[in-house]
Amino acid sequence: MLHILFLLSLLLSTSHASVNDFCVADLKGPDGPSGYPCKPPAKVTTHDFVYAGLAAEGSTSNIINAAVTPAFVAQFPGLNGLGLSAARLDLAPGGVIPLHTHPGASELLIVTEGLVTAGFIASDNSVYVKKLSKGQLFILPQGLLHFQLSYGKSKAVAYAVFSSSNPGLQILDFALFASNFSSSLITQTTFLDPEQVKKLKSVLGGSG
Ligand SMILES: *[C@@H]1O[C@H](CO)[C@@H](O)[C@H](O)[C@H]1NC(C)=O
Repeated sequence: MLHILFLLSLLLSTSHASVNDFCVADLKGPDGPSGYPCKPPAKVTTHDFVYAGLAAEGSTSNIINAAVTPAFVAQFPGLNGLGLSAARLDLAPGGVIPLHTHPGASELLIVTEGLVTAGFIASDNSVYVKKLSKGQLFILPQGLLHFQLSYGKSKAVAYAVFSSSNPGLQILDFALFASNFSSSLITQTTFLDPEQVKKLKSVLGGSG
């Protein structure tokens, strides 16, 4: 009898657990530090836990010969609050994802095709670089500047898994030369030659 009561109480105490299992994002709500508000659980379907956006190859016909296709919470609302997201990297031969950081997440890089050099610069300025091939994984710790590039003669594909549903992405060259950060301040704060700053700004579309 006691056993049955115990089992019953266990059943009752867990029967409401599903409301806390997930919080599919209502993207119309505000995106706060703890994520988006939840879509009403009654409206959640299997579809909310599936994302097919990384199946297609990203276009590498651009200045970096590469593409990053994100599956962050904004694209895949089911990730909201789970501390998890992903991205697909497509690199044409010579393609590069320029130095960048994800302020909100560590990254686990998984090479699935071709040859990829990945590396990061630690806070003490130690540099860790590795040439990777299919099946190899590399860790890019949270917030640190890092890069990926294709070093083979054919295209490369890698997937990244992030420890946040909203890792953020700040590309160093774009922050400097595709923004309205004034040329004189860039020169003063980076020690780069004014001519180089001007050249990169005209290529990347910066102003100021
Ligand atoms: C750059 O542009 C943003 C908005 O686009 C503006 O808020 C900011 O004040 C601008 N900064 C400078 C230095 O002009």
